[in-house]
Amino acid sequence: MQKQITTAARVEGEVTPPGDKSISHRALMISALAEGDSRIENLCGGADITSTIDCLRGLGVAIEEQDRVVTVQGAGLHGLTRPEKTLDVGNSGTTIRLLSGILAGQDFTTKITGDESIRTRPMSRIARPLQEMGAQVSAHKDEFAPLTISGGNLRAIDYHVPVASAQVKSCILLAGLYAPGRTTVHELTTTRDHTELMLARLGAPVQKKGTQASVDGVAQLTARDTFIPGDLSGAAFFIAAALMVPGSSLVIKNVGINPTRRAFFELLCDMGANVDLVNVRALGNEMMADVFVRHGAFSKIELDGRIVPQIIDEIPILAVMATQAEGRTEIRDADELRNKESDRLRSVAFNLQRMGAKVVERPDGLVIDGPVQLKAAEIETFGDHRIAMAFSVAALVAEGVSRIKDAERAQVSYPGFFETLEQVVVARK
Ligand code: S3P
Repeated sequence: MQKQITTAARVEGEVTPPGDKSISHRALMISALAEGDSRIENLCGGADITSTIDCLRGLGVAIEEQDRVVTVQGAGLHGLTRPEKTLDVGNSGTTIRLLSGILAGQDFTTKITGDESIRTRPMSRIARPLQEMGAQVSAHKDEFAPLTISGGNLRAIDYHVPVASAQVKSCILLAGLYAPGRTTVHELTTTRDHTELMLARLGAPVQKKGTQASVDGVAQLTARDTFIPGDLSGAAFFIAAALMVPGSSLVIKNVGINPTRRAFFELLCDMGANVDLVNVRALGNEMMADVFVRHGAFSKIELDGRIVPQIIDEIPILAVMATQAEGRTEIRDADELRNKESDRLRSVAFNLQRMGAKVVERPDGLVIDGPVQLKAAEIETFGDHRIAMAFSVAALVAEGVSRIKDAERAQVSYPGFFETLEQVVVARK
């Protein structure tokens, strides 16, 4: 599907983003291991979440949906059953990496794979710690999916993760549920802690200290109902749109503002952008707020390894914003972006160049000079949902009509993204 997007006159109204993708995966998987039924409200309806549901069903978990509430019948920690066929995670890195931790705890063999993009993404980062815990994990060329995992009889480990990755940390903690004693993960820097929060909510003994997270092997988890806050990473596209298009003012409701994710707002503040968080409230172990955004000038940013892991999914849209910011934006220590659904440094630089931005791609980042009047272009999505959405927003401030190829990729994390965009964007006559 190709989408045509013209220059916007302004962005206005109200947006409620879908449930957070990261929390949705965790709510489903951890509820599947609990005793009893968990009702999950506001689950992200994206394709990645459908992949997690399908994989869990393949493992014998009953999951039902009624009136937009999903009920997971917990199978218990030892109630999963051997799947009849290879589990398919589609495009979802979170599904394959987190589920592998759970599979490592099962005393049967599972094969798990995904689409073309998943089969090029690094998996030794999870295979190594799982092997150290005693699971047998084999990967194509020791690195790529399909993975074959034979688990059971795990031992607790103390592991220093060599990359900043919440997926790797979560994989190890989930396997840690099955290992007698305490499993500890040491991180290079803090990454999103939704797994720790969800595990604690369902009764697992979790400890956190600085960049260290531990879990003790448990006998059981207890089902709990959950409301998933809106996806900050999805909201970021609309926030950026309202900040960039003159005359805009937008409210984004129910946005998750977990402290390990909300560095995006601190950055916007540093850039001098008009963004306010109101109605801040707790929601289970997570937090949520409404976000008020008004157009106004903003300045460049500098990003390095201290903050990159906390805004990893927002970097494509921040790069788009940098083209409209006063000054030179430098993004460093961001080579992990090359391991995402696409090589995001390449995908962003390629499309920004097409739109006439001043951008230089470096091995570990990007340098962008602004402000620049972007021009409409044909956008290559590279099969990546966040590239489809970031450049749909770029198109709002570009002269002319842009065409977004494979725009349907947005469905991976944000079902209804284009419908919502149409509702809040007033096109220039
Ligand atoms: C995620 C962690 C991040 C992020 C991804 C979701 C998660 O990946 O980019 O979209 O839900 O844990 P990494 O762990 O590879 O950094």
